[in-house]
Amino acid sequence: MRALVLWLIFGLPFSAQARAEEPSALEKKGKQISVIHCSRCHVVDPKHPFTGISSTPSFELLVNALDDWEERFSSFHARLPHPSIVRFGDEQPDPDIEELRPSVTLEYEDIDALVAYAASLLKK
Ligand code: HEC
Repeated sequence: MRALVLWLIFGLPFSAQARAEEPSALEKKGKQISVIHCSRCHVVDPKHPFTGISSTPSFELLVNALDDWEERFSSFHARLPHPSIVRFGDEQPDPDIEELRPSVTLEYEDIDALVAYAASLLKK
């Protein structure tokens, strides 16, 4: 009984907090999309800094250095150089170009997942 009371007082708030820090399903989805589609150019996960190409800013840098990072991630597909590589839904790739420059096919709701993953890289 005493153990239960102690757990209710100390353990319960703690376990609730641990759950709050678990990545959400949306964040996990965003990370997966980032690793598959963005890590060709960007360092997307600070734990794997040697991916990407060095001339492209890392996600961690973008999120922490730019106040308007959320706006930029939400509209990244319209910002250079992405319009030439990102397609949505069942838009068909141009086969001549595709051979030289493989494109990324996303759904519009993937943007929310990417923003959720980017938010997880914010240093508090
Ligand atoms: C072919 C390489 C390439 C791929 C693939 C790529 N990016 Fe980028 N991205 C860049 C480059 C280069 C820049 C920097 C552009 C600049 O400085 O003007 C950039 C910049 C950005 C920015 C900042 C844009 C701005 O205007 O400040 C965001 C956000 C971004 N990328 C998100 C993504 C996401 C999300 C993905 C994957 C779905 C992705 N990128 C895939 C090359 C790429």
